[in-house]
Amino acid sequence: MMQTRTLGKTGPAVSALGLGAMGMSGAYGETDRAESIATVHAALDAGVTLIDTGDFYGMGHNEMLLAEALHGRDRDSYQVSVKFGMLRGPGSLSGGMDGRPEAVRNFLAYSLTRLGLDHVDIYRPARLDPAVPIEETVGAIKEMVDAGYVRHIGLSEVDAATIRRAHAVHPIADLQIEYSLLSRAVEAEVLPTLRELGIGMTAYGVLGRGLISGHWSADRQAAPGDFRAFSPRFADGNVEHNLALVEALRRVAEAKGCTVAQLAIAWVAAQEPFIVPLVGARTRNRLAEALPALDVTLTADDLAEIGEAVPAGAARGDRYPAAFMSSLGVGN
Ligand SMILES: NC(=O)c1ccc[n+]([C@@H]2O[C@H](COP(=O)([O-])OP(=O)(O)OC[C@H]3O[C@@H](n4cnc5c(N)ncnc54)[C@H](OP(=O)(O)O)[C@@H]3O)[C@@H](O)[C@H]2O)c1
Repeated sequence: MMQTRTLGKTGPAVSALGLGAMGMSGAYGETDRAESIATVHAALDAGVTLIDTGDFYGMGHNEMLLAEALHGRDRDSYQVSVKFGMLRGPGSLSGGMDGRPEAVRNFLAYSLTRLGLDHVDIYRPARLDPAVPIEETVGAIKEMVDAGYVRHIGLSEVDAATIRRAHAVHPIADLQIEYSLLSRAVEAEVLPTLRELGIGMTAYGVLGRGLISGHWSADRQAAPGDFRAFSPRFADGNVEHNLALVEALRRVAEAKGCTVAQLAIAWVAAQEPFIVPLVGARTRNRLAEALPALDVTLTADDLAEIGEAVPAGAARGDRYPAAFMSSLGVGN
């Protein structure tokens, strides 16, 4: 039986582990379409209800893939979380963020069409648009909630002050943000704010994009389009240091009878009852490893041991390339 968690005071009850579909549209190199769809099916069959996507993941590719994978499934048996607003150009050129109200309505209309759905369960701006007050962006999504096209509103990679401002316009179900043993900036202000306001978190990068999955090695070369080819944490000189942390984690995992990936996911889930880790499995094998993480119970002693193996701030290298760091609400 899949465990569930509720995203915020007003948010939906979702599976305690969500599936992130980004990697199925090229973020981590080539993928196999049939395997991607089989992975979504395997997740749904295992009781995963929350599927996360973004309209810019493969420029619509990800949403169309999900439309095919979700076709014929009972609409009330899963929730789709969609990020919007990230601007791209041909060849995935980065072009900033658009959170204007008219853009919100436009992005949503395209997403609903690509997904083949009449509503999105959680809709969120992928980043803060520095030119548009968050009140205006969230206000526009609220109109879409009132019109029945969106069920809940979320945020992504914003700071505590922005969370408060957005929440004053409409209750926020969850903040999506990177949180893992390697990325702990949320612990200072963001987590206490979510706790205080009754907002959930969908944590991404819980496996450090594969770095702390136990399956990465210094000699593994990321393909040119793979995020890991230009991620500072995977760069020569940093990756060796970070993989030494993984080896320390592996010793704890082995004593616990689980894999490194399972331990890393369980650690995030153990931090707060309102956190739902998203895992970016793009094959059934990876998914099958991730799912039992929810059964790994961590005692206070386990948590202390993990904390010694990977202390806060131990990772070497920023979590994004320099050009992207300024669009994030918190640091590393
Ligand atoms: N809001 C945001 O700004 C934002 C940013 C990034 C992602 N996200 C969302 O969060 C989701 C998850 O993030 P993520 O994919 O970047 O991070 P992740 O789950 O930390 O990393 C996923 C990668 O880890 C590797 N891996 C190794 N063992 C695994 C296992 N047992 N299960 C799953 N993956 C394993 C896989 O790479 P290999 O297959 O190459 O081994 C996989 O592509 C994304 O799909 C996306 O929906 C949101």
